[in-house]
Amino acid sequence: MPIPDRMNPTFASALPAAIDLREQARNRLIVALDVPDAASAVDLVNRLESNCHWFKVGLELFVSAGPAVVESLAKRDHSVFLDLKLHDVPNTVAGAVRSAAALGVRMITLHAAGGPAMLSAARAALEGIADPPELLAVTVLTSMDAAQMKATGLERSPSEQVKLLAKMGLAAGMHGFVCSPQEVAALRKLTGPKGVLVVPGIRPAGSVIGDQKRIATPTDALRQGANYLVVGRPITQAPDPAEAAEAILNEMAEALE
Ligand code: C5P
Repeated sequence: MPIPDRMNPTFASALPAAIDLREQARNRLIVALDVPDAASAVDLVNRLESNCHWFKVGLELFVSAGPAVVESLAKRDHSVFLDLKLHDVPNTVAGAVRSAAALGVRMITLHAAGGPAMLSAARAALEGIADPPELLAVTVLTSMDAAQMKATGLERSPSEQVKLLAKMGLAAGMHGFVCSPQEVAALRKLTGPKGVLVVPGIRPAGSVIGDQKRIATPTDALRQGANYLVVGRPITQAPDPAEAAEAILNEMAEALE
């Protein structure tokens, strides 16, 4: 029986490079569903799902809509980044990681400041789970500057603290990190090519910056070594979210050439 074209490796390698780059871009863009309820999230996903594959569910939406919103995204074959920034005693975090994995999420965030025991417990919780999600540590929140850190008893500079927590996170089995565009290059050196670096604070040239302080264009973030870009308002608050996503995907595909 002849091999269907799509499964024939000769055909696959002859696919126009542009289509392949487009698909790579699609697999590396995460849209932040920073909305207050399930109805608003569904509305956005309906508008975006033909272009976008990854969606981030954070505290606002999860607290309001609960696991059902995650399950419905997974059922629609989307990849979910569950950004709850877990930080608790090891046993509790391990349980939360198991629950998140059971929901079918593909990435989960935890605070590296929870310490090696908490991070190792989270990693151990994935043992025996088929196709487990990736664990990403958050090092220093981008809202923290030297003065905020000093107020919590931390005397190191933010960049030194990021490096310390990143090394500790890697040793405890984290798959990667969420980091600002300014930290990507330094973290890439620490993690090597295998580390997963997820980068928010993305603003296409000419877009509204909002409250983000450390920003980069999609092109710059990818060139610095980001694996995934997290984009919220430039897409979700655009007059036409699908068109805004399309423009970012085109820019990403060009940067990946
Ligand atoms: O709307 P905007 O593109 O700024 O959204 C960025 C998303 O990434 C938000 O969901 C925000 O909470 C998240 N994020 C961030 N900075 C971090 C970690 C997460 O902006 N350091």
